[in-house]
Amino acid sequence: SQTLVGVDLGGTKIAVAGLLDGRIVNKLVEPTPKAGWQSVLDQMAVQVQEVLRELPGVQRIGVGVPGPLDFKNGVVKFAPNIYGFDHVPLVSYLQDKLGLPVVMENDANAAALGEFVYGAAQDAESAIYVTISTGIGGGIVFDGRVWRGANGIAGEIGHMIALPGATVSGAGQAGGLEALASGTAIARDASYAIGRKVTTAEAFQLAQDGHKVARAIVENAMRYIGIALADLQKSFDPEVFVLGGGVAEVGEYFFRHVQAAADEYAAGFAPVVIRKAVLGVNAGVIGAALAAR
Ligand code: BGC
Ligand code: NA
Repeated sequence: SQTLVGVDLGGTKIAVAGLLDGRIVNKLVEPTPKAGWQSVLDQMAVQVQEVLRELPGVQRIGVGVPGPLDFKNGVVKFAPNIYGFDHVPLVSYLQDKLGLPVVMENDANAAALGEFVYGAAQDAESAIYVTISTGIGGGIVFDGRVWRGANGIAGEIGHMIALPGATVSGAGQAGGLEALASGTAIARDASYAIGRKVTTAEAFQLAQDGHKVARAIVENAMRYIGIALADLQKSFDPEVFVLGGGVAEVGEYFFRHVQAAADEYAAGFAPVVIRKAVLGVNAGVIGAALAAR
C-alpha cells in the first residue's frame, strides 16, 4: 500500500489530507488567503508540511486546482474564481518549498478520478463528472484515465456557452454555463430578483416551497445543466454522468429536473444516465491524491 497526499484548492478553503488505502487521514482545512497567488501557495505548503509530519514515506503530492492548466509547464493558466491566480508556476514553486515532486490536476478532473475509483462510477468504463458549486467544472474519464485534451482544457464544462451574450463569468466570456447555473449564479439571480440577500440553498428551499420567482431561477439553472449533459452525451456518449458539488446536494428535486431536461434534449439518441456523487466534500482531496499515484 502507498500513502498519498492530496490538496484541494478552493476559492474559500484549502484542504490537505493523506490517503491511506482509500481512507482519508490527517485532514487539515484552512481559509484560502486573498493576497495573491504566493500567499495561497505558501499557506498550502504549510498545511502539506504539517500533514507530512505525521505521514512518513510520502513520495508525491497531488494538487487539485480549479482552473485550466498548462500541464507541460506546470502552470495554472488562470483560476476563474480565485483572486490573483493568473499564470501561476504552481509546480515549480511548491516543489521548491516542499522538496518533493508535485503533480497538479484540475480539481474536477481529480474528483472525476475519485468517483471513478472509489465512488459512483466504480462499475462504469466511462464517466463524465460534473461539479456544480461556486463554479462548474467537469472531468472526463475513459478506461480509467482522465482525458485532459490536447491543451489540457478538456472538461471545462462550466465555460461551454449556454446562452450567447448572457452574463459574463470570471473567465471573461459571456453566456457560459457557470455564469448562468452555478451556485454563485443562482444566489446572485435570486438575490437580485427577490430583493434581498438569498443563498443558493435558500433559493432551492423557496423554490420547493412554491415561491414563484425562486422557482423560475433554479429551474432555469437546472435546465441549462440538463441541456449541457444532453450535449455531452452526444459528444462523448459516456456510460454515466456523476454530479457533485454543493448544488447537487439539493438532492431529489435537483436530479429530477436535470434528468428531465437532459432527456428532453437527448432527443432519444441514447439514455442519459445521471448519478449523484458519493465522495462529497472529500472528492477533491481523494482525487488529487489519486492523481499523484
Ligand atoms: C474552472 C474549472 C473548475 C471549475 C470548478 C471553473 O471555473 O474553470 O477548471 O473545474 O470551475 O471548480
Ligand atoms: Na476539468
